[in-house]
Order: sequence, then C-alpha cells, then structure tokens
Amino acid sequence: MIRASVLGATGYLGGELLRLLLGHPGVTVAQAISTRLPGRRVDAVHPNLRAVTDLSFGALDDLADCDVLLLATPHRATMELLPTVMARGRAVIDMSGDFRLADASAYAAYYDTEHTAPNLLGTFAPGLPELYRDDVAKADLISVPGCSAAAATLALAPLRGLVRPEVQIDARTGSSGSGASAGDANTHAERSGALRVFAPARHRHEAEVAAHTGLTVRMTATGTPAVRGVQVVCHATAAGEITERELRAAYRAAYADEPFVRIVAHRRGAHRLPDPRILLGSNFCDVGFALDGDRITAIGALDNLVKGGAGAAVQCLNLRLGLPESLGLGFPGLHPL
Ligand SMILES: NC(=O)c1ccc[n+]([C@@H]2O[C@H](COP(=O)([O-])OP(=O)(O)OC[C@H]3O[C@@H](n4cnc5c(N)ncnc54)[C@H](OP(=O)(O)O)[C@@H]3O)[C@@H](O)[C@H]2O)c1
Repeated sequence: MIRASVLGATGYLGGELLRLLLGHPGVTVAQAISTRLPGRRVDAVHPNLRAVTDLSFGALDDLADCDVLLLATPHRATMELLPTVMARGRAVIDMSGDFRLADASAYAAYYDTEHTAPNLLGTFAPGLPELYRDDVAKADLISVPGCSAAAATLALAPLRGLVRPEVQIDARTGSSGSGASAGDANTHAERSGALRVFAPARHRHEAEVAAHTGLTVRMTATGTPAVRGVQVVCHATAAGEITERELRAAYRAAYADEPFVRIVAHRRGAHRLPDPRILLGSNFCDVGFALDGDRITAIGALDNLVKGGAGAAVQCLNLRLGLPESLGLGFPGLHPL
C-alpha cells in the first residue's frame, strides 16, 4: 500500500483529497495534518467521512516520512512550508498556486508578492497528465494547475496552430473555489444569487494557460451562486478557413484516448455543451466547441475540487507510483442533482 499524507487536511481541497484517498484501493492515508485542529477527529470537520474513517488530524511537527506528500495549503503559506517538509515525501504533489509558474517575475506580477523559494520555481512537473503525462510519471515534485486554468487549457489545447494567438477567457466559478476560510465575502448572504466579477482582468490563472498553450490569454473570472464547479468560455479566432468537421477531428486527436476528458459538442438536447453541474464529484473535464465563420468558442467544465484539484492530484499520484491512472477516480457524477 502507498502511504499518502495530506497537509491542509481541514480545508475544502484537503477534505476532497481524504474522500478520494480513503476510497482508493492502492493508498493508505498515513497522516491528515492540521495546524489548528491536531487531535480532532477528521469526520468532525468533514462529516461526509463519518463511518469511513476513525482518523484524527495530526500536528505539523509530527509529520513523518511517507510515499506521497500532498499539500492543500494556501498560496504564500505553501512556498514557506514546502521547502521545510518536502524531504518527508518520496514524491510531493502541491495544489497551491505557489509552484505553478516557472518564473519569479511572473509570480510577483500575478501574486503581488516576491517568491520566497525562487530556486524551486521551474522544478515542478505540471500536474496535467493530458499534456505532461511522461513528466508526471517521473517527477518527484508535481504542481497541480489552478481549476480554471486546467479547464481552459484542456478546452484550448486542441486549437493550438488553428487559431490566432490572442484568446479571451470568461471563467465562472463556485464558492468552494475560495476555500473554507474565505471570510465575510463568501457567506451565504453575500454569495447566494450573486454574480460577482472578482477578476475583471488579469486573473492569476491566465499566466498558467498562456504557459501551457503558448497563446496570449486574457482572462476574467466571475463567482457564481453554485458551491462547486468551474466553466470557462474561451473566445478565439480561426487562423484560416476551418470546418466543424476539422475542429471536431482536432479535439478527437487530442482526447480520444484520455480517460478523463470528454468531448461534449452536440447539436441538440439539454446537455449540448459542457456544464459543471453533471460533473460534481467526478474527475471528468468536459470540453466542447462551436464554430461561426472564423469565430471559435471553446468551452470547458469541471469540478474545481476534483479534476480542478484533488482528483488531478490523485491522477498524478497514480501515474507517479505506477498504478492504473484511473484507480480510485471512478465516480461518474450525479444526474439529476
Ligand atoms: N478550493 C478549490 O477549488 C481549489 C482548487 C484548486 C487549488 N486550490 C488551492 O488549494 C489550496 C487549498 O485550497 P482550499 O480551498 O482547500 O483552502 P482552505 O479550505 O482555506 O484550506 C486550506 C487549509 O490550509 C491549512 N493552512 C492554512 N495556513 C497554513 C499554514 N501556514 N501552514 C499549514 N497549513 C495551513 C488550513 O488548515 P489548518 O488551519 O487546519 O492547518 C486550511 O484548512 C490553496 O492553495 C488553493 O488555492 C483550491
């Protein structure tokens, strides 16, 4: 059995990691670390795990060696923490934004602070198996992309070479994307029914999408009343004449063999294009497209806590440790919901 330990285990992403890892046939959860609540039962914080585990949170000082160390800790805190704990795991998978960008100046521009471990930037494999499978399989350090970045990258990657370089992305995200400690702005009273444009320009994930696709990306982000789910609507212009058949062929060439990317682009029905609602709890990312003359609209959807975070981390864990890539990630989502 592979021994996995989770840092930031009281958070939303930490809870989702525990849910997936406790149901994973090849993994044992060695430690679930909390700085605030060591000694407290895990199911007191994550009630969905009642009768699933008797585990209690451990203290950071008691972190022991393990096969895989997974960090679900906030950005800024992670770049301070990771250099001090990374030797504990044979492999380290980070879900924060702190090691996603390869360049300290890009980090400072998007995160409004200097990086405190710049020597580690560029040493992580991006935790996006669809684009970097071979790198993930041999990396000791893996950095999972941001949730909107993953959805947009997967929606746009098949279009490389087919569209002009400038792309606009409209991202919509549920409230769990802000974490369990998001504060007053994320209360039910403030969030319910709201469509809050929280990043009218220069959303942090645009740098990641640009790095993964080679496109020039402009990204806005809006908080929706949903709890989970990300949808990105990407606006691109065809570089030359293209038919819908050719567009579909490009998506098929990219994803026909991918276990977690589905092409959803139908002419009829209630579920013609990607909608995160039917993906909740699943590790799928649905991608779709529409063509109107030279105008291409590419759409991506996923559950921010699963394919946008914990599920992607488990997919990377499987690859890195030689397990079947889909192990422990079989939940298909619910319909109706
Ligand atoms: N939410 C999403 O949809 C999503 C998706 C992809 C990536 N991410 C990224 O994943 C990370 C976790 O996100 P989240 O939504 O789960 O946040 P969260 O709910 O706020 O949880 C973060 C956890 O980190 C722990 N923590 C805080 N400061 C710490 C420190 N200095 N040292 C060690 N642990 C500390 C906290 O637990 P204790 O106080 O108990 O230690 C807290 O439970 C963030 O970097 C986020 O950007 C989130």
